[in-house]
Amino acid sequence: MSAARKKPTPRTASSIISARLSAHIALEPRADGNILAWFNGYSVGLGKFSTAAVEQAQRLRTGLPLTSFSAARSATVREVDLLVRRLARSGLLEYRFGPPKGGNDQVIIEPQMPEYWPQVAKLAANDRIVLSRFAYMRRRGDEMILESPLAAALFRIRDPKIAATLTSLATPQTLGKLRRQDGFPGAELIGLLLDCGMLFRVAAGSSGLRADEGDDNLVLWDFHDLLFHTHSTEGRQANPLGGLYPYADTMPPPPSVRATWPGQAIDLRHLLPESPNRGSSALNLFRARHSTRDFDDNDPITLAELSQFLDNTARIKAHWENRADLGDGSGPMIAYTVRPYPSGGSSYELELYLTVANCRGLDRGFYHYDADRHALVPISVQPQDIEAQLDSAIFAMDAPNSPQVLITIAARFDRISWKYSSIAYSLVLKNVGVMMQTLYLMAADMGLGGCAIGNNNIDRFARMTGVEFHVEGPVGQFALGRAWIEPE
Ligand SMILES: Cc1cc2nc3c(=O)[nH]c(=O)nc-3n(C[C@H](O)[C@H](O)[C@H](O)COP(=O)(O)O)c2cc1C
Repeated sequence: MSAARKKPTPRTASSIISARLSAHIALEPRADGNILAWFNGYSVGLGKFSTAAVEQAQRLRTGLPLTSFSAARSATVREVDLLVRRLARSGLLEYRFGPPKGGNDQVIIEPQMPEYWPQVAKLAANDRIVLSRFAYMRRRGDEMILESPLAAALFRIRDPKIAATLTSLATPQTLGKLRRQDGFPGAELIGLLLDCGMLFRVAAGSSGLRADEGDDNLVLWDFHDLLFHTHSTEGRQANPLGGLYPYADTMPPPPSVRATWPGQAIDLRHLLPESPNRGSSALNLFRARHSTRDFDDNDPITLAELSQFLDNTARIKAHWENRADLGDGSGPMIAYTVRPYPSGGSSYELELYLTVANCRGLDRGFYHYDADRHALVPISVQPQDIEAQLDSAIFAMDAPNSPQVLITIAARFDRISWKYSSIAYSLVLKNVGVMMQTLYLMAADMGLGGCAIGNNNIDRFARMTGVEFHVEGPVGQFALGRAWIEPE
């Protein structure tokens, strides 16, 4: 008797990647061929395109398969490719992973950095892959999202089976084994996740743990520290950032002064001297200190003043050594420095970088302050990055003009995380606060003006210095110069 023939299972079309406009974006083709992209009442010009390209562009509402225009053949396809890349660079696109002809989205990729473009890393069946220790899933609204401070995009996971597959990748697995798992989403999605740093390859026999992922500097980062750094700065995330009053419609502003505690208060006022510390220079300095956002372009800070300012606030005064206390006397000797401001554990991980716009005796440019030699070392950067840095400072201060010198406070993260677990990044930020107050007080003492700036772009700094964002990066900024004084 012949065996019953198994009914062939219908082949399901495998999922593809399509580019589509983010939900809040509208394209407006003008009669002259120019296309505008509109979002939240703002528009961006995307350039002039042919009628055929404009027609094709309408498909970006539902999704244009990446393969349909990346292999540029006709002039129209090349135009669509250009348009899509311009939209991508402006952060106006997302990428859908799902069945080719409609159907549910399995994953939606949301770029977090302008230069993100979906790339599928090539994988062999015996490649062992594992989840990055920096990747995590969480609920956002009514969706599950997969994020990582290392990734240039986040993945909205719409299919629970994909979430389950990702969970199984907590342990290294070969692609071959993964393929046999129920709900395997296809090698293409695995390749996309690998390219983004959500997953990484591990060598056979390796545990797939901390030391196998990335370089020595990445090993030193705790998960929450790297996430905090990338999500509280500009450059590697697309969340709204800064003083946007996001809860103004939801609740009234919290009071400026805390409500008093119940209980009998001990009044301190009658204990004050009649004429409180009139001669105290510290008191005078505290009183004089204030933020200056408007600088006198006709009478800029001089190089001699800058030299004195840096000498007084940041220069290394002495060197010393001590053995690391590992409890048994086996710790290595550690080199330390003495500087004018306090620093957690004497780490002194902070470095000053100067963007000079207008300083008498010093060329416009970007410099590192060598705190040991008391010298400025020029760093060659693109002029547009200098402009962008100064423009961001003007925007952050809502200032009429650029600071004369913009000081970027950067941290050498390894210097502090080599010693401190769990509190490393918080110590860096506390040290930045100490440094800011030091700069404020010295500016006041020298008759200069300054203003702290709470935001910095870690991606731009990485581009300017060529140093990766997790190795050394900006954690604060300070605008410096001679204050503009209104004539009487
Ligand atoms: C950590 C920190 C971040 C700040 N960021 C900004 C900023 O981005 N833009 C700005 O105009 N002022 C900024 N400031 C300055 C404050 O707005 C200012 O200190 C505050 O309004 C009090 O005014 P005063 O400094 O003149 O006493 C910052 C101050 C600190 C300490």
